[in-house]
Parts: sequence; C-alpha cells; structure tokens
Amino acid sequence: MFKKRVKLVSRMAIFMTLLLFALFVLIRFLDPFQDDYWSVIFDFIGSFHPVILHLPIGLWFGVLALFVLHFFQRERVQESLVFGSALVTLVFAIFTFAAGFVLYLGGGYGSGSIAFHMYSSLAFLTALIAFVIGFGGGFGSLYCTLTAITTSAILLISGHAGGVITHGEPLDRAPWRVFAARQAKAEALALGKTGEGHVFADLVMPILNEKCIACHGTERAKGRLQMDSYIDLIKGGSKGLAYVPGDLSASLMITRMHLPLEHSERMPPAERPQLDAGELAFLEWWVTAGLPENQLVRDTMIPEEHALYVNSLIGNSEEAMQAQALKMRKNALMAAYAEIQAQFPGVLVQSIQNDAVFELSSSSMFGYNEEAVREALAPLAESVVRIDWNRRPLDASWIHLFAQSKSLQVLNLTDCDFSADALSVLLAKKNSLKKINLTGTAFSDRHIDHLIENSGIETIVLTDTDLSKSGFSRLISDLPGTQVISNFSL
Ligand code: HEC
Repeated sequence: MFKKRVKLVSRMAIFMTLLLFALFVLIRFLDPFQDDYWSVIFDFIGSFHPVILHLPIGLWFGVLALFVLHFFQRERVQESLVFGSALVTLVFAIFTFAAGFVLYLGGGYGSGSIAFHMYSSLAFLTALIAFVIGFGGGFGSLYCTLTAITTSAILLISGHAGGVITHGEPLDRAPWRVFAARQAKAEALALGKTGEGHVFADLVMPILNEKCIACHGTERAKGRLQMDSYIDLIKGGSKGLAYVPGDLSASLMITRMHLPLEHSERMPPAERPQLDAGELAFLEWWVTAGLPENQLVRDTMIPEEHALYVNSLIGNSEEAMQAQALKMRKNALMAAYAEIQAQFPGVLVQSIQNDAVFELSSSSMFGYNEEAVREALAPLAESVVRIDWNRRPLDASWIHLFAQSKSLQVLNLTDCDFSADALSVLLAKKNSLKKINLTGTAFSDRHIDHLIENSGIETIVLTDTDLSKSGFSRLISDLPGTQVISNFSL
C-alpha cells in the first residue's frame, strides 16, 4: 500500500518537473515578457520567490536530519515521516523554483550568475526527486545516502549563488577587499583631481552607481535597462532610450526622475534614496552637453554652478577644499550683505557684481544710527575694498572696524577728523592699498613708514597735512613708482 502510493506520488513529481521543464524551454524561447500585461502578472508571481525560498532549504535539512535518525533508529523515526517531509520539501522546492524562474524572466536580470543559480537549482530539484523516488521505492541505503549528500551539496552551491545575486558576494565585504576598494577609490579621486579623470566615469557613474545600479546593473536590469556603461545607457531599455546625448526631454533617465514621487514610473522609486538637487542638475547638464564617453574632466568647461558637486567628488585636493571653503564664505558674506541692504540701503555697495567685495561710503550714512550700522557691518569688514569717509569724525569704533579691512584698496579720508594715533592704527598692515587720500587730516611724518611698507601703492594724496618737505622727499625716494601729491613739489 505504502509503496503503491510512493509510486504514484513519484510519478506525479516527475511529471510536474517535466512539465515545468517544458514550460521553461518554451518561455525561454518565446519570451512573452515584453508584454506589459504579462510582466505585471509574472512580477507578482515572482515576488514570492524571496519570501518562500528559505522554506525548502530549511525543510531539506530537516529531512536530512530525519533521514540520519531513521538510519540509526528505525523504530522511532519511521520511514513514512522521512518520506512525507521529503515530499513536502519537494512541493515547496518546485514552487520556489517556478517563482524564481518567473522572477528571472520578468525581472530583466542579466545573464551572469543568475543562470548558474537557475541551473543549479534545477539540479537540486532533480537530485531531490531522485532521493524521494529512491527512498520511497526502497532503493537501499547506499543509493539514498548518496542522493541525500548530492542534494545537500547542490543546495548549498545553488543557495550561495542565489545569495550572491541579492546580497552580493560575501567575500566582497572581507576586510582586505574593502581596503583595496578604498585604495582604488582614492586613486580614482586623485586622477579626477588632476583632471585626468573622465566626466562620465568619474562624475556621472558615481551617481548612477549609488542611485540606480542596484536595479539597473548586470545582475538585475529592470525594464531591461542596464546603466553600468555608456553603451548600455545609449542602448536604453524596453520602453525606449534612456540617454540621448544632447536631448534632455528624449532621455528617459531624466524625464523619469522628474515624475512626481508617487508616480509608479518615478525613478528612483519613491522608497529608494533620491538624487539631491546638485546631482540631478549635474546629470541634466551632462545629458544636455552630450559629451562622449572619453571626455576628460580637464578638457571640459563645467559650469560654475556644478562646482560644489564636482568638488564633492574629486575635491580632496587642497585647491578643491579651499574652493569649497571660499564658496561657503562667499555665501555667508552675501547673506550678511543682503541683510545690510535690507536694513540700511545704500551704505554698502558691491564693488564687483556677484562678488563678495564691498564699498563703504559715509555719505549714504545719513539718517541711520551709526552704531547699528557699525554692528551690521562687522561681519563684512574684511571684505571692504573701498572706504570713502569725507568730512566726518572718525571715532575709535570706526577706526577699529576699518583696521580690520585687510583687503582695502582705496581709502579716502578727505578732511576727516581723527587723531594722529588713530591714523597709525588705521594704516598698519594695509598691504593691498592702491590709492589713499588724506587731504586735510592729521597725517604727519611719523606715519610715513606705514606707507613705505606698501610698495604696491599707486597714488598718495597728502595736501594740507602736517607732512614736512623732508618727509615728502623721503616718500618720493622710497616709493619711486608712486604718485605723491602734496603741497610740495619736486
Ligand atoms: C528599486 C529599483 C530601482 C532603482 C533603484 C531604479 N530603478 Fe529604474 N526601473 C525600475 C523598474 C522595476 C523598472 C521597470 C518598470 C518601469 O518601467 O517603471 C525601471 C525602469 C526604468 C527606466 C525605463 C527602462 C525601460 O526602457 O523600460 C528608466 C529610464 C529607469 N528605470 C531609470 C532609472 C534611473 C535613472 C535610476 C537611478 C537614478 C533608476 N532607474 C533606479 C527599478 C529601479
């Protein structure tokens, strides 16, 4: 009776496997998965594969344990228990295989390791069936032991191959490989730094690697789109062209990133890490520019607005760090400037459009609370390049502020009221001064040294000051290239 049932079930198992195999061959060659309708259905069936795949693995090792126990304790662990659990394992194994197969066909996986996983899983099914038939049919313990060992070995191999597809090769996380990869990355960065790097490989691929490759690589190519090389991008996927050099709106990779987050075709899908604004802007620039694959960073005019993104990638050089720091500083200065403009319009003007260098004029100070203005100016003092402070008292607080403007180029203090000591403080270390007008001030010979220290100075106006004739001569001889205007003449 038992043997009879075994025969029946074994035949069923063989029949199911053959049927599955025929389906496998049929589908492989007919390939109905281009069709959207079927791909949705298969996608659903396929999604069961990862859910149930551990079941047959666990069950099989249970069967193995029972089989060993049965070997030693035939009384306690009965044949029917081993056979029944092996049969249950087979049913789940067949279902898991079918779901995985459908996942493979519908999911657009690449060929590499997935094919190996699939064929080894098929081998596992075959070995399992051989075991079930042999055990149920009473083929003897040598046959059963051999098929049990074979089944276990193939299962381990096939399971590992499957694991690699979803989790990656475990050895890739081995310390020596991780360190080697870091080293390679550092070298690539160094390449980019010197401009030897490529726009595509060194600036575009990092974004795709981080945000797209998990689903659009060689192992997995959703929508039949692979994004791990220039050629693959150009080839596109089942819905069309992912990247059309020079054409933003024809490039699916861009249009899909602009879909609303809740849209089913949005890329990357909503639950995945999204691109930040800098990355998206850079990709769009790259698509519009239509650059060839081998375009060097060095030969490319990358617009200023992408400097931050580019530097964040290839910018571990000192220059790049400085550029980053400068940019941040400029932003802070421009913010402070905007605040002053709002509070005290006209006090400060930009010396060069879009640059954080400023000019200060006392004539526009009228009506403002000087102390409040001074406070607002403090963060910008270093970036003031021109000061016009005419016919106005200059108290200690202002002197202190002006003394901080290290990049001052033009200082005009005509008929300005301040002490001789204050002027010494003000003139100390003003190395970028080009023009200075001290007409009618407390300038005297003791201040000459401050001016002489600065050989780059072009014009000095000292009319109606306490400058002596000999002081004038000293200035002329020590600053030969400078025009000195005073009450004296040569
Ligand atoms: C979580 C997985 C996942 C990630 C990550 C992902 N995609 Fe996709 N992508 C899919 C799936 C699934 C499809 C197929 C279904 C569809 O067309 O919407 C697809 C399809 C596409 C298509 C259409 C391909 C075709 O021709 O059928 C493009 C273009 C695309 N993705 C671009 C991207 C870009 C660009 C990124 C990265 C910024 C990205 N995807 C990241 C899952 C992903």
